Amino acid sequence: MSEQPQQLVAPIGTHDVLPDTSRAWERVVGLFSTMAHQWGFGLVLTPVFEDVAVFNRGIGEKSDVARKEMYVFEDRGGRTYALRPEGTASVVRAFVQHHPTTPWKAWYVTPAFRYERPQAGRYRQHHQLGVEVLGTEDPLVDVEVIALAWRFYEALGLKRVSLIINSMGHAECRGAFVTQLRTHLETNETSLCDEHAKLWSNNPLRVIDCKKDECRGVIDAGPSIADALCEPCAEHFAAVAEGLTDIGVPWERNTRLVRGFDYYTRTTFEFVSDALDGAQNAVGGGGRYDQLAQDLGGDPTAGVGFGSGIERLLLALEAESVEGYQTLCDSSVDVFVVDMTGGLQAHLLCDELRRAGVAVDRAYDGRSMKSQLKAADRSGATVALLVGPQELEVGAITIRDLRATSDGDRQRQIARQNVVEEVLRTMEMSKNA
Ligand code: HAM
Repeated sequence: MSEQPQQLVAPIGTHDVLPDTSRAWERVVGLFSTMAHQWGFGLVLTPVFEDVAVFNRGIGEKSDVARKEMYVFEDRGGRTYALRPEGTASVVRAFVQHHPTTPWKAWYVTPAFRYERPQAGRYRQHHQLGVEVLGTEDPLVDVEVIALAWRFYEALGLKRVSLIINSMGHAECRGAFVTQLRTHLETNETSLCDEHAKLWSNNPLRVIDCKKDECRGVIDAGPSIADALCEPCAEHFAAVAEGLTDIGVPWERNTRLVRGFDYYTRTTFEFVSDALDGAQNAVGGGGRYDQLAQDLGGDPTAGVGFGSGIERLLLALEAESVEGYQTLCDSSVDVFVVDMTGGLQAHLLCDELRRAGVAVDRAYDGRSMKSQLKAADRSGATVALLVGPQELEVGAITIRDLRATSDGDRQRQIARQNVVEEVLRTMEMSKNA
């Protein structure tokens, strides 16, 4: 007897999304697609792998993601590629390559790959929804991008998300700030946490958002990016803050907000949910990157965007409201057909109803009445249509309201030719009940 091959499973840090939750994914992506269109964005799809230089130059060779987390591989032709760790660099690469007219407003939904330590809310393959706008420095574009994310979270029903904003300044004022910060960190090197005492000089900005008390003390006593901004950057930041206030999007400034990629200039922001665990509580983030197009070989072009993790959004929805989350996951059909005459009637009814836009399912393999009724209950359908030999003979269908509480008006017979009309009417009634 040959041995059964070992069962294979999805890689560590990745997940299969199955129909019991995938409906929520469809709804989240569907809502985002509708809203992105309302905000004037068009969908952009780029390859899931790119020349590694797109990310090394884009997010910065010294960033943690590029140094430690990228999936880099050589293809059979000897080219070095990386799986996309985030969405922005690829979209900007596409912008530089295709020269579209500006402002260029792109939205995307994409998997992203990072070799992280897997834990709840942190995966090696996660999925992001996002937008990027290229070709304008207008602070009201930053506001529009932030507002789209905010309104999207609102429309999903998230109530425990707050917005943090900051400005990293442009290349010069940020450069001057980093010089001051280096001096401060060098003087206080021995007071930093173990990791940063050794590594601070690789990327001094990372020390700013270190959560350890030792680093916090040193940073609190050091220079602040808020004081280092040049006048145009300070004005840009003030205009973003005012624009948000004008449309009622609440924000808080946090000068410790440093994002993980080197491409950011001026505005940076993050959306955090207090329903999620501290280290994985960002449901979205983004900012401006006015150098990035140039770093990728294009003409100088300002840009701003955000990305939001779909898994984190679903975790936040689940943590905030079990009921709302379950509604989002609901994959019930409207109608379930129970056929006790062999299956042909179910086949015909399903086709007719589906063509009328009704979501219908049925049982197969000539199951017993009991087993078909059980399947009808499991399907979450509002009504069951029952066809037995007696119904077939008189040209009728029994329609059973699966949600009715009293037995009296639970089921009735209707003429076969009126089935679509009757089903639509019953569904409408049950929706308004
Ligand atoms: P990010 O902050 O690295 O930014 O990722 C955006 C969002 O993706 C995070 O707020 C989080 O919700 C989710 N996320 C990130 N890493 C993971 C992970 N390992 N597991 C689960 N979810 C995760 C960016 O990627 C930028 N491209 C955003 C942007 C767009 N900036 C400008 N435009």
